[in-house]
Amino acid sequence: MRNGYNQSLVWGIAVIAAMGGLLFGFDTGVISGAIPYFQPYFAIDDSMIESITTAGLVGAILGALFCGRVTDRVGRRSVILVAAVIFCGGALWSGWAATPVQLIVARLFLGIAIGIASFVVPLYIAEISPARMRGRLVSMFQLMVTIGILVSYLSDLFFADNADMECWRPMFYVGAIPAIILFVGMWFLPESPAWLLSKGREEACRAIMNRIEDPAVVETSMARTLEELRRDKEQAGWREVLKPWLRNALIIGVGIMFFQQFVGINTIMYYCPKIFLMAGFGDNISAIWASVGVGVVNVLFTVVSIYFVDRIGRRRLYFIGMAGIVISLVALAACFGFNALLGEAGRWVAIVLVFVYIAFFAISIGPLGWLIITEVFPLKVRGLGSSIGSLSCWVFNGIVTFTFFKIVRMLTVPGTEIVVQGETAGNPAGAFLFYAVIALLGILWGYFYVPETKGVPLDKIEQYWRQGGTPRRLGKTEL
Ligand code: BGC
Repeated sequence: MRNGYNQSLVWGIAVIAAMGGLLFGFDTGVISGAIPYFQPYFAIDDSMIESITTAGLVGAILGALFCGRVTDRVGRRSVILVAAVIFCGGALWSGWAATPVQLIVARLFLGIAIGIASFVVPLYIAEISPARMRGRLVSMFQLMVTIGILVSYLSDLFFADNADMECWRPMFYVGAIPAIILFVGMWFLPESPAWLLSKGREEACRAIMNRIEDPAVVETSMARTLEELRRDKEQAGWREVLKPWLRNALIIGVGIMFFQQFVGINTIMYYCPKIFLMAGFGDNISAIWASVGVGVVNVLFTVVSIYFVDRIGRRRLYFIGMAGIVISLVALAACFGFNALLGEAGRWVAIVLVFVYIAFFAISIGPLGWLIITEVFPLKVRGLGSSIGSLSCWVFNGIVTFTFFKIVRMLTVPGTEIVVQGETAGNPAGAFLFYAVIALLGILWGYFYVPETKGVPLDKIEQYWRQGGTPRRLGKTEL
């Protein structure tokens, strides 16, 4: 008889399912390199570009908004399969687009898959992983998101061809490949055992659990989940999520995504070539290479986070990461604020600080946000709960992305304007300081609301909320 859980099968499950993460990242990043080509090709202005970019975010919001309950009703696996089909169709459609309006619709369609994948994939992984491995496995999702972003930067560089204004088409097509892998892989993977149990399919659940878990814990774990379901007889749904005993879970799910986005991460992810131009890099190509550097640092430090998340725990990683984010943002603000004094050295200091900032994000709130939203909600509403977290992420992302340049302009101290490629732009020092203040508030918030879920079985987390426990003491109190 097998002793301990079936590690290789679990990793297989996670790697394949995390293709969803890769697609999420790829389809987030791919647009940045495609814009310089389809803009002149279609002869469209910046506001049209904004609409095309925002369409993806709107799609993601719709996907996260409407698929939470569907996921609880029809199961995690079917929803991931449908998302794979949308990913594939959306990628091909984006590449085929004959008009800018078609591109908007195609990006919107694709965005729906991103929105769905952003919560169903981590949820599926969380439910199918043994408790001891859960943090690391769910963080794999974030790793795949970052790898997806990097791959998209690299593939954009690969296809970029100044002599061919249609080179943006293959940039989009490539996204169909991971979508097909996701579909085929998922086809062979089992449904989430917890979800099967919630539908009364005990035998099917047991069969899958026996393949995944340590056989010694299968029965007790199933019994606990059944007990959890029995207690949750009441109608699941929005009404349940809004009940007082789940208030902390809801505050945690929405709050962690608020801080994840309002530390300004995507101002770097989407606009980093532009920020590096502001920092003094003279040409597009070196600025794009600097972005590739951002992608690499992001991936490497997400790996570091995966190593630590089930060892030193969520709370400690959170505080270390957020403190680093505050410090690097303040330093970045100083670097831009005094860029006239720093001269030539300024751009290198800026690039190092951006890397440091990304590293601290990647070890902490980046992966933790996605992990924690899968952990804090009880099984009956876990699909809905994590879709609320994911939805918040997309809404906050949209707000930050849409307001960045406006905030830059608003908070530019007169006299510190920067000239980029012959045009006078604002100075991002004030904006970085603004995000630093929010990150500081995030530390305070985290003291009260970031739960230590390391190694705590999911069903025990529910029990803890029912007993009226506070997030701060989760994991410290004997359950
Ligand atoms: C965030 C994304 C971000 C990415 C960068 C994720 O955790 O949700 O908005 O682009 O990290 O790695």
